[in-house]
Amino acid sequence: MATRSCLCVFLFLLVAFQSTMVKANTVIPSSRCRPVLASTKEKLEFAVNLHIYKAELVLRASVGRGINDISPGLVEGPAPIGATLANLDNRTRKIMEESGLATIGHIRDIANIILRRSPLSMPQLDLSPQAFEKYLDVINVTLKPPFNIYANTNSFLLAAAFASDYLKQYYAGIMPWIVGIPERELAAGIAVYEGASYGVIRSLLNDRANLTVPPYTFTVENLTNLSAQIGNQLGGCGLKDEGLVVPLPLGAENRTTGNVIAADVNSLPYTRSALELLRIVFITGNATRPGGVFPRGFEGTLYHRILALKQS
Ligand SMILES: *[C@@H]1O[C@H](CO)[C@@H](O)[C@H](O)[C@H]1NC(C)=O
Ligand SMILES: *[C@@H]1O[C@H](CO)[C@@H](O)[C@H](O)[C@H]1NC(C)=O
Ligand SMILES: *[C@@H]1O[C@H](CO)[C@@H](O)[C@H](O)[C@H]1NC(C)=O
Ligand SMILES: *[C@@H]1O[C@H](CO)[C@@H](O)[C@H](O)[C@H]1NC(C)=O
Ligand SMILES: *[C@@H]1O[C@H](CO)[C@@H](O)[C@H](O)[C@H]1NC(C)=O
Ligand SMILES: *[C@@H]1O[C@H](CO)[C@@H](O)[C@H](O)[C@H]1NC(C)=O
Ligand SMILES: *[C@@H]1O[C@H](CO)[C@@H](O)[C@H](O)[C@H]1NC(C)=O
Repeated sequence: MATRSCLCVFLFLLVAFQSTMVKANTVIPSSRCRPVLASTKEKLEFAVNLHIYKAELVLRASVGRGINDISPGLVEGPAPIGATLANLDNRTRKIMEESGLATIGHIRDIANIILRRSPLSMPQLDLSPQAFEKYLDVINVTLKPPFNIYANTNSFLLAAAFASDYLKQYYAGIMPWIVGIPERELAAGIAVYEGASYGVIRSLLNDRANLTVPPYTFTVENLTNLSAQIGNQLGGCGLKDEGLVVPLPLGAENRTTGNVIAADVNSLPYTRSALELLRIVFITGNATRPGGVFPRGFEGTLYHRILALKQS
Protein backbone atom coordinates (compact mmCIF):
# COMPACT_ATOMS: atom_id res chain seq x y z
CA MET A 1 0.00 0.00 0.00
CA ALA A 2 2.82 2.35 0.98
CA THR A 3 4.58 1.47 -2.24
CA ARG A 4 1.47 2.23 -4.23
CA SER A 5 0.85 5.68 -2.73
CA CYS A 6 4.54 6.45 -3.17
CA LEU A 7 4.27 5.57 -6.83
CA CYS A 8 1.15 7.73 -7.17
CA VAL A 9 2.90 10.76 -5.71
CA PHE A 10 5.86 10.10 -7.95
CA LEU A 11 3.65 9.88 -11.04
CA PHE A 12 1.68 12.96 -9.99
CA LEU A 13 4.86 15.00 -9.58
CA LEU A 14 6.18 13.82 -12.92
CA VAL A 15 2.93 14.69 -14.66
CA ALA A 16 2.78 18.09 -12.93
CA PHE A 17 6.38 18.77 -13.90
CA GLN A 18 5.70 17.70 -17.45
CA SER A 19 2.72 20.00 -17.82
CA THR A 20 4.83 23.02 -16.77
CA MET A 21 7.43 21.99 -19.33
CA VAL A 22 4.73 21.73 -21.95
CA LYS A 23 3.38 25.20 -21.09
CA ALA A 24 6.83 26.69 -21.26
CA ASN A 25 7.22 25.36 -24.77
CA THR A 26 3.64 26.33 -25.72
CA VAL A 27 3.48 23.30 -27.96
CA ILE A 28 1.35 20.46 -26.65
CA PRO A 29 2.74 17.23 -28.00
CA SER A 30 0.34 14.32 -28.33
CA SER A 31 0.89 11.39 -25.96
CA ARG A 32 2.70 9.67 -28.83
CA CYS A 33 5.39 12.34 -28.74
CA ARG A 34 5.73 13.24 -25.03
CA PRO A 35 8.73 12.15 -22.97
CA VAL A 36 8.12 8.73 -21.43
CA LEU A 37 7.86 8.53 -17.62
CA ALA A 38 10.76 6.52 -16.25
CA SER A 39 13.47 6.64 -13.60
CA THR A 40 17.03 7.66 -14.44
CA LYS A 41 18.13 4.07 -14.13
CA GLU A 42 15.39 2.86 -16.48
CA LYS A 43 16.20 5.56 -19.02
CA LEU A 44 19.88 4.61 -19.16
CA GLU A 45 19.11 0.90 -19.18
CA PHE A 46 16.95 1.60 -22.24
CA ALA A 47 19.85 3.48 -23.85
CA VAL A 48 22.08 0.40 -23.50
CA ASN A 49 20.06 -1.23 -26.32
CA LEU A 50 20.94 1.65 -28.64
CA HIS A 51 24.60 1.63 -27.53
CA ILE A 52 24.86 -2.11 -28.16
CA TYR A 53 23.31 -1.63 -31.59
CA LYS A 54 25.82 1.07 -32.51
CA ALA A 55 28.83 -0.81 -31.12
CA GLU A 56 27.99 -4.13 -32.77
CA LEU A 57 27.20 -2.46 -36.10
CA VAL A 58 30.34 -0.36 -36.43
CA LEU A 59 32.77 -2.84 -34.84
CA ARG A 60 31.63 -5.86 -36.82
CA ALA A 61 31.62 -3.81 -40.02
CA SER A 62 35.06 -2.27 -39.40
CA VAL A 63 37.09 -4.98 -37.65
CA GLY A 64 34.81 -8.04 -37.69
CA ARG A 65 34.61 -8.28 -33.90
CA GLY A 66 31.76 -7.75 -31.45
CA ILE A 67 31.51 -6.33 -27.92
CA ASN A 68 32.17 -9.67 -26.24
CA ASP A 69 35.28 -10.30 -28.34
CA ILE A 70 36.74 -7.02 -27.12
CA SER A 71 35.35 -6.78 -23.59
CA PRO A 72 34.39 -10.28 -22.44
CA GLY A 73 31.66 -10.41 -19.80
CA LEU A 74 30.28 -6.93 -20.42
CA VAL A 75 27.18 -8.12 -22.29
CA GLU A 76 25.48 -11.47 -22.74
CA GLY A 77 22.88 -12.62 -25.20
CA PRO A 78 22.39 -13.87 -28.72
CA ALA A 79 24.98 -13.00 -31.35
CA PRO A 80 23.75 -10.51 -33.93
CA ILE A 81 22.32 -11.94 -37.14
CA GLY A 82 23.85 -11.06 -40.48
CA ALA A 83 26.71 -8.72 -39.55
CA THR A 84 29.73 -8.74 -41.82
CA LEU A 85 32.87 -6.78 -42.60
CA ALA A 86 32.03 -3.76 -44.73
CA ASN A 87 34.02 -2.70 -47.77
CA LEU A 88 35.26 0.53 -46.17
CA ASP A 89 38.12 2.84 -47.02
CA ASN A 90 40.88 2.76 -44.43
CA ARG A 91 40.13 6.16 -42.98
CA THR A 92 36.48 5.39 -42.40
CA ARG A 93 37.33 1.94 -41.03
CA LYS A 94 39.61 3.51 -38.43
CA ILE A 95 37.00 6.07 -37.39
CA MET A 96 34.28 3.41 -37.15
CA GLU A 97 36.52 1.22 -35.00
CA GLU A 98 37.27 4.12 -32.65
CA SER A 99 33.59 4.99 -32.40
CA GLY A 100 32.67 1.38 -31.59
CA LEU A 101 35.40 1.05 -28.96
CA ALA A 102 34.28 4.27 -27.26
CA THR A 103 30.73 2.95 -27.23
CA ILE A 104 31.93 -0.14 -25.35
CA GLY A 105 33.39 2.26 -22.79
CA HIS A 106 30.02 3.99 -22.47
CA ILE A 107 28.22 0.67 -21.98
CA ARG A 108 30.71 -0.22 -19.24
CA ASP A 109 30.21 3.19 -17.60
CA ILE A 110 26.44 2.63 -17.48
CA ALA A 111 26.96 -0.90 -16.12
CA ASN A 112 29.35 0.30 -13.38
CA ILE A 113 27.87 3.63 -12.35
CA ILE A 114 24.14 3.28 -12.98
CA LEU A 115 23.08 -0.36 -13.16
CA ARG A 116 25.87 -1.75 -10.91
CA ARG A 117 25.77 -5.11 -12.63
CA SER A 118 27.20 -6.95 -15.60
CA PRO A 119 26.87 -8.69 -17.92
CA LEU A 120 24.08 -6.56 -19.37
CA SER A 121 21.47 -8.34 -21.48
CA MET A 122 22.01 -7.93 -25.15
CA PRO A 123 18.95 -7.66 -27.39
CA GLN A 124 18.77 -9.82 -30.49
CA LEU A 125 20.09 -7.66 -33.33
CA ASP A 126 19.51 -8.20 -37.01
CA LEU A 127 22.36 -6.42 -38.76
CA SER A 128 21.80 -8.12 -42.10
CA PRO A 129 21.65 -5.99 -45.25
CA GLN A 130 18.07 -7.25 -45.70
CA ALA A 131 16.96 -5.78 -42.37
CA PHE A 132 18.26 -2.34 -43.38
CA GLU A 133 16.90 -2.63 -46.88
CA LYS A 134 13.38 -2.87 -45.45
CA TYR A 135 13.62 0.76 -44.33
CA LEU A 136 13.29 1.80 -47.95
CA ASP A 137 9.91 0.02 -48.19
CA VAL A 138 8.58 2.63 -45.77
CA ILE A 139 8.81 5.24 -48.53
CA ASN A 140 8.06 2.76 -51.32
CA VAL A 141 11.58 2.87 -52.75
CA THR A 142 12.73 -0.40 -54.30
CA LEU A 143 16.34 -0.59 -55.42
CA LYS A 144 17.87 -3.05 -57.84
CA PRO A 145 20.14 -4.64 -56.78
CA PRO A 146 18.83 -4.47 -53.18
CA PHE A 147 20.55 -1.88 -50.97
CA ASN A 148 23.52 -3.33 -49.07
CA ILE A 149 24.92 -1.19 -46.26
CA TYR A 150 28.17 -3.18 -46.28
CA ALA A 151 28.86 -2.75 -50.02
CA ASN A 152 30.91 0.44 -49.80
CA THR A 153 31.86 3.39 -47.59
CA ASN A 154 29.04 5.64 -48.81
CA SER A 155 26.37 3.06 -48.03
CA PHE A 156 27.81 2.11 -44.66
CA LEU A 157 28.18 5.70 -43.46
CA LEU A 158 24.46 6.11 -43.93
CA ALA A 159 23.75 3.18 -41.60
CA ALA A 160 26.30 4.47 -39.08
CA ALA A 161 24.74 7.95 -39.18
CA PHE A 162 21.37 6.36 -38.53
CA ALA A 163 22.55 4.54 -35.37
CA SER A 164 24.49 7.56 -34.13
CA ASP A 165 21.73 10.10 -34.79
CA TYR A 166 19.18 8.18 -32.73
CA LEU A 167 21.49 7.73 -29.79
CA LYS A 168 22.19 11.48 -29.79
CA GLN A 169 18.49 12.35 -30.08
CA TYR A 170 17.63 10.02 -27.21
CA TYR A 171 20.21 11.60 -24.89
CA ALA A 172 19.14 15.11 -25.89
CA GLY A 173 15.62 14.07 -24.84
CA ILE A 174 16.43 12.46 -21.49
CA MET A 175 19.13 14.88 -20.29
CA PRO A 176 16.78 17.34 -18.54
CA TRP A 177 15.20 14.46 -16.58
CA ILE A 178 18.34 12.80 -15.26
CA VAL A 179 18.46 12.84 -11.45
CA GLY A 180 21.66 12.72 -9.37
CA ILE A 181 25.09 14.31 -9.91
CA PRO A 182 27.07 11.18 -10.90
CA GLU A 183 24.20 10.19 -13.16
CA ARG A 184 24.14 13.64 -14.80
CA GLU A 185 27.90 13.66 -15.21
CA LEU A 186 27.71 10.34 -16.97
CA ALA A 187 24.74 11.19 -19.19
CA ALA A 188 26.18 14.61 -20.10
CA GLY A 189 29.52 13.00 -20.92
CA ILE A 190 27.94 10.39 -23.16
CA ALA A 191 25.65 12.96 -24.78
CA VAL A 192 28.56 15.26 -25.65
CA TYR A 193 30.57 12.35 -27.00
CA GLU A 194 27.65 11.10 -29.09
CA GLY A 195 27.02 14.60 -30.45
CA ALA A 196 30.65 14.65 -31.60
CA SER A 197 30.39 11.16 -33.07
CA TYR A 198 27.28 12.14 -35.03
CA GLY A 199 29.07 15.28 -36.27
CA VAL A 200 32.07 13.26 -37.51
CA ILE A 201 29.89 10.81 -39.42
CA ARG A 202 27.74 13.57 -40.95
CA SER A 203 30.88 15.43 -41.91
CA LEU A 204 32.24 12.33 -43.67
CA LEU A 205 28.90 12.03 -45.45
CA ASN A 206 28.90 15.71 -46.36
CA ASP A 207 32.31 15.42 -48.01
CA ARG A 208 30.70 12.81 -50.24
CA ALA A 209 27.36 14.56 -50.73
CA ASN A 210 27.68 14.77 -54.52
CA LEU A 211 29.19 11.33 -55.05
CA THR A 212 26.99 8.51 -56.20
CA VAL A 213 26.23 5.52 -54.00
CA PRO A 214 27.49 2.60 -56.10
CA PRO A 215 26.00 0.76 -57.95
CA TYR A 216 23.17 3.30 -58.18
CA THR A 217 22.99 6.65 -59.93
CA PHE A 218 21.70 8.66 -56.98
CA THR A 219 23.98 10.57 -54.64
CA VAL A 220 24.84 10.47 -50.95
CA GLU A 221 22.81 13.66 -50.54
CA ASN A 222 19.79 11.92 -52.11
CA LEU A 223 20.19 9.05 -49.71
CA THR A 224 20.39 11.28 -46.63
CA ASN A 225 17.17 12.93 -47.78
CA LEU A 226 15.46 9.57 -48.13
CA SER A 227 16.77 8.41 -44.78
CA ALA A 228 15.46 11.56 -43.08
CA GLN A 229 12.08 11.03 -44.70
CA ILE A 230 11.97 7.46 -43.37
CA GLY A 231 12.87 8.51 -39.82
CA ASN A 232 10.29 11.28 -39.78
CA GLN A 233 7.55 9.07 -41.13
CA LEU A 234 8.19 6.21 -38.69
CA GLY A 235 8.79 8.48 -35.69
CA GLY A 236 5.44 10.13 -36.29
CA CYS A 237 6.29 13.32 -34.38
CA GLY A 238 7.12 15.80 -37.11
CA LEU A 239 10.36 16.77 -38.78
CA LYS A 240 13.36 15.73 -36.67
CA ASP A 241 15.68 14.16 -39.22
CA GLU A 242 17.10 16.27 -42.02
CA GLY A 243 19.24 15.69 -45.09
CA LEU A 244 22.59 17.34 -45.79
CA VAL A 245 20.97 20.11 -47.84
CA VAL A 246 17.78 21.79 -46.67
CA PRO A 247 15.53 24.66 -47.71
CA LEU A 248 16.66 27.98 -46.16
CA PRO A 249 14.02 28.04 -43.39
CA LEU A 250 15.54 24.84 -41.99
CA GLY A 251 19.14 26.06 -42.18
CA ALA A 252 20.95 27.73 -39.26
CA GLU A 253 19.54 31.27 -38.77
CA ASN A 254 17.55 30.73 -41.99
CA ARG A 255 20.69 31.74 -43.84
CA THR A 256 22.18 28.54 -45.19
CA THR A 257 21.08 25.44 -47.07
CA GLY A 258 24.11 23.56 -45.77
CA ASN A 259 23.06 21.19 -43.00
CA VAL A 260 25.95 19.05 -41.82
CA ILE A 261 24.42 18.98 -38.33
CA ALA A 262 20.64 18.60 -38.26
CA ALA A 263 19.13 20.93 -35.64
CA ASP A 264 15.93 22.82 -34.87
CA VAL A 265 15.11 26.49 -35.48
CA ASN A 266 17.29 27.48 -32.50
CA SER A 267 20.10 25.21 -33.72
CA LEU A 268 19.46 22.87 -30.79
CA PRO A 269 19.31 19.11 -31.34
CA TYR A 270 15.98 17.50 -32.10
CA THR A 271 14.95 15.14 -29.32
CA ARG A 272 13.23 11.81 -29.66
CA SER A 273 11.48 9.88 -26.89
CA ALA A 274 11.80 6.16 -26.21
CA LEU A 275 8.53 5.55 -28.07
CA GLU A 276 9.59 7.46 -31.16
CA LEU A 277 12.89 5.59 -31.28
CA LEU A 278 11.22 2.21 -30.93
CA ARG A 279 8.86 3.05 -33.79
CA ILE A 280 11.85 3.87 -35.97
CA VAL A 281 14.32 1.11 -35.11
CA PHE A 282 11.54 -1.50 -35.29
CA ILE A 283 10.59 -0.15 -38.79
CA THR A 284 6.98 -0.88 -37.87
CA GLY A 285 6.02 2.64 -36.77
CA ASN A 286 4.70 0.85 -33.66
CA ALA A 287 6.70 0.88 -30.42
CA THR A 288 5.27 -2.44 -29.28
CA ARG A 289 5.70 -4.32 -32.56
CA PRO A 290 9.37 -5.33 -32.83
CA GLY A 291 11.05 -5.74 -36.18
CA GLY A 292 13.86 -4.29 -38.25
CA VAL A 293 17.16 -4.22 -36.43
CA PHE A 294 15.50 -5.46 -33.19
CA PRO A 295 13.41 -8.47 -34.24
CA ARG A 296 12.75 -9.45 -30.60
CA GLY A 297 12.47 -5.96 -29.15
CA PHE A 298 14.57 -4.27 -26.46
CA GLU A 299 15.82 -5.49 -23.11
CA GLY A 300 15.05 -3.73 -19.82
CA THR A 301 12.32 -2.51 -17.50
CA LEU A 302 11.20 0.55 -19.45
CA TYR A 303 10.68 -1.39 -22.67
CA HIS A 304 8.73 -4.06 -20.84
CA ARG A 305 6.52 -1.41 -19.22
CA ILE A 306 5.89 0.17 -22.63
CA LEU A 307 4.82 -3.29 -23.83
CA ALA A 308 2.60 -3.88 -20.79
CA LEU A 309 0.95 -0.47 -21.20
CA LYS A 310 0.58 -1.05 -24.96
CA GLN A 311 2.07 2.39 -25.71
CA SER A 312 2.38 1.98 -29.45
C1 LIG B 1 44.56 0.03 -46.13
O1 LIG B 1 45.03 -0.75 -45.05
C2 LIG B 1 45.53 -2.02 -45.47
C3 LIG B 1 45.84 -2.85 -44.22
O2 LIG B 1 46.34 -2.05 -43.21
C4 LIG B 1 46.75 -1.80 -46.37
O3 LIG B 1 47.24 -3.05 -46.80
C5 LIG B 1 46.31 -0.99 -47.57
O4 LIG B 1 47.46 -0.68 -48.38
C6 LIG B 1 45.65 0.32 -47.12
N1 LIG B 1 45.11 0.98 -48.29
C7 LIG B 1 45.33 2.26 -48.55
C8 LIG B 1 44.68 2.79 -49.80
O5 LIG B 1 45.99 2.97 -47.83
C1 LIG C 1 3.48 3.54 -50.17
O1 LIG C 1 2.55 2.71 -50.85
C2 LIG C 1 1.42 2.39 -50.08
C3 LIG C 1 0.58 1.39 -50.86
O2 LIG C 1 0.53 1.73 -52.20
C4 LIG C 1 0.64 3.68 -49.77
O3 LIG C 1 -0.48 3.39 -48.98
C5 LIG C 1 1.57 4.63 -49.01
O4 LIG C 1 0.93 5.87 -48.81
C6 LIG C 1 2.85 4.87 -49.78
N1 LIG C 1 3.76 5.63 -48.93
C7 LIG C 1 4.48 6.66 -49.38
C8 LIG C 1 5.36 7.33 -48.38
O5 LIG C 1 4.41 7.06 -50.52
C1 LIG D 1 27.83 19.55 -54.30
O1 LIG D 1 27.38 20.20 -55.48
C2 LIG D 1 26.81 21.48 -55.24
C3 LIG D 1 26.23 21.99 -56.55
O2 LIG D 1 27.14 21.87 -57.57
C4 LIG D 1 27.87 22.40 -54.65
O3 LIG D 1 27.29 23.64 -54.35
C5 LIG D 1 28.39 21.77 -53.36
O4 LIG D 1 29.43 22.56 -52.84
C6 LIG D 1 28.90 20.37 -53.61
N1 LIG D 1 29.22 19.77 -52.33
C7 LIG D 1 30.38 19.20 -52.08
C8 LIG D 1 30.59 18.68 -50.69
O5 LIG D 1 31.24 19.06 -52.93
C1 LIG E 1 17.19 17.11 -50.46
O1 LIG E 1 16.11 17.80 -49.94
C2 LIG E 1 16.22 19.22 -50.01
C3 LIG E 1 14.97 19.85 -49.44
O2 LIG E 1 14.51 19.18 -48.35
C4 LIG E 1 16.36 19.67 -51.43
O3 LIG E 1 16.58 21.05 -51.47
C5 LIG E 1 17.51 18.94 -52.07
O4 LIG E 1 17.57 19.25 -53.46
C6 LIG E 1 17.37 17.46 -51.93
N1 LIG E 1 18.55 16.86 -52.48
C7 LIG E 1 18.55 15.72 -53.15
C8 LIG E 1 19.84 15.37 -53.81
O5 LIG E 1 17.59 14.99 -53.23
C1 LIG F 1 18.22 12.80 -56.29
O1 LIG F 1 18.39 14.18 -56.39
C2 LIG F 1 18.22 14.69 -57.67
C3 LIG F 1 18.60 16.15 -57.64
O2 LIG F 1 17.95 16.83 -56.59
C4 LIG F 1 16.78 14.43 -58.10
O3 LIG F 1 16.59 14.89 -59.41
C5 LIG F 1 16.49 12.94 -58.04
O4 LIG F 1 15.14 12.69 -58.30
C6 LIG F 1 16.82 12.40 -56.66
N1 LIG F 1 16.69 10.95 -56.67
C7 LIG F 1 16.10 10.29 -55.69
C8 LIG F 1 16.09 8.79 -55.82
O5 LIG F 1 15.60 10.87 -54.74
C1 LIG G 1 13.72 31.48 -39.13
O1 LIG G 1 12.43 31.19 -39.68
C2 LIG G 1 11.50 30.67 -38.73
C3 LIG G 1 10.21 30.38 -39.45
O2 LIG G 1 10.45 29.55 -40.55
C4 LIG G 1 11.28 31.67 -37.60
O3 LIG G 1 10.44 31.09 -36.62
C5 LIG G 1 12.61 32.02 -36.98
O4 LIG G 1 12.42 33.04 -36.02
C6 LIG G 1 13.60 32.49 -38.03
N1 LIG G 1 14.89 32.68 -37.38
C7 LIG G 1 15.63 33.78 -37.52
C8 LIG G 1 16.91 33.84 -36.78
O5 LIG G 1 15.32 34.66 -38.27
C1 LIG H 1 1.05 -2.10 -32.28
O1 LIG H 1 1.46 -3.45 -32.23
C2 LIG H 1 0.79 -4.19 -31.24
C3 LIG H 1 1.47 -5.56 -31.17
O2 LIG H 1 1.57 -6.12 -32.45
C4 LIG H 1 -0.69 -4.26 -31.58
O3 LIG H 1 -1.36 -4.98 -30.57
C5 LIG H 1 -1.24 -2.84 -31.64
O4 LIG H 1 -2.58 -2.86 -32.06
C6 LIG H 1 -0.42 -2.00 -32.62
N1 LIG H 1 -0.84 -0.61 -32.51
C7 LIG H 1 -1.19 0.11 -33.57
C8 LIG H 1 -1.58 1.52 -33.31
O5 LIG H 1 -1.19 -0.36 -34.70
